[in-house]
Amino acid sequence: MDRIRIRGGHPLSGTITIGGAKNAALPLMAAGLLTDERLVLTNVPRLADIQTMSALLAQHGIAVEPVTADKRVLSLGGAISNTEAPYDIVRKMRASVLVLGPLLARTGEARVSLPGGCAIGTRPVDLHLKGLEQMGARFNLANGYIDGRVDGRLHGATIVFPSVSVGATENLLMAASLADGRTVLTNAAREPEIGDLAACLVAMGARIEGIGSHSLTIEGVGRLHGADHAIIPDRIETGSYACAAAISGGSVFLRDARLDHLGATVRILREAGVEITARPDGLMVKRLNGLHGVDVMTEPYPGFPTDMQAQFMALMAVSDGASMVTETIFENRFMHVPELNRMGARINVQGASAIVRGTPSLSGAPVMATDLRASLSLILAGLAARGETIVNRVYHLDRGYESVEQKLAACGADIERISG
Ligand code: UD1
Repeated sequence: MDRIRIRGGHPLSGTITIGGAKNAALPLMAAGLLTDERLVLTNVPRLADIQTMSALLAQHGIAVEPVTADKRVLSLGGAISNTEAPYDIVRKMRASVLVLGPLLARTGEARVSLPGGCAIGTRPVDLHLKGLEQMGARFNLANGYIDGRVDGRLHGATIVFPSVSVGATENLLMAASLADGRTVLTNAAREPEIGDLAACLVAMGARIEGIGSHSLTIEGVGRLHGADHAIIPDRIETGSYACAAAISGGSVFLRDARLDHLGATVRILREAGVEITARPDGLMVKRLNGLHGVDVMTEPYPGFPTDMQAQFMALMAVSDGASMVTETIFENRFMHVPELNRMGARINVQGASAIVRGTPSLSGAPVMATDLRASLSLILAGLAARGETIVNRVYHLDRGYESVEQKLAACGADIERISG
């Protein structure tokens, strides 16, 4: 199994290009199930999760072809020949459940493995199922599978989400685009990735109003057609490399990053002492002086994202003063804490909050990555630490960060991947 070795203490300097957003690419690929025509996606990141989604779509009969040599363009198309999403694929990636709405809308049936828990919590799919039931689907849960059926077509409904869910909003938005009549989604998530999905659906012929707001109104249409769509830059990759520039005391230009997608992340990083300046083609990120402790609470967009919590905590671990990091989205998302503490961080978890007492320096150590964002938090700590850090289990990293060691090494970090 690959590992990453980092020798800390080198301020980063240079340019990092931000790739297409993983969390936009996955639902956009699922949207390929909504039409027989060709959907061409550009700015597709090269990640393990994209390969998993490609394998899932292939299983449904959709041909997924890279149409450029560097494989940043994906072309999807073909008729659905199989409506089962098997356990072997779904267990690798929970976002596989995003095929449920499109399959039901297109074919009237779907058999999708229940995703089950994951390292960061139980993560149920009840909101997806309840919404689709309101649109006329019936579900039977047996043998670890969701068996879904629709008599005829899905119909429009008024759905009020009791809590904000990115995945449920996306599943229902896709299903409603091909349903009979009007659907209103209230208390919808409004992450930039949902806006990107909606923009692509509109390009495919969907009728959606309220894009970017908490309330989406969708007038279902009889069929959707092919489209070309460029995926937005990854705001979490952006925030992660902004933390890398800051924790190393360096200055990095994040090419293609978008300030308007960062929500509370920009304000919080600035409060912590990170200078962020927008330029026409990206963001300049610098740390000139010390970092300060800032309290932060994760919230749905535009609040501070749970997907930035672990990385921000690494920054807080080497800041002046103390900070309280509160996780409100997932119940078990502090597994990076014991690993950071092994590197000399002083972090105490009390329920849903972690109290971080800043320390002037960390020391390198062998550590274990537990999930995608936790992996990056350990790399950040390694950049700041004295001596050598080895991050084990980097397959988590490869799910969501493209060429992380190359991007950081090009800016002067002493980092390499050790294969095998
Ligand atoms: C998406 C992101 C993930 C991010 C998360 C929150 C993708 C592929 N993944 O995940 O990176 O961390 O948003 O920003 O885009 N919930 C329920 N019932 C449901 C659905 C969700 O109780 O049916 C709960 C979850 O357990 C969690 C909360 O709602 O506590 C938010 O989850 P949700 O927004 O659905 O996250 P995902 O779409 O799975």
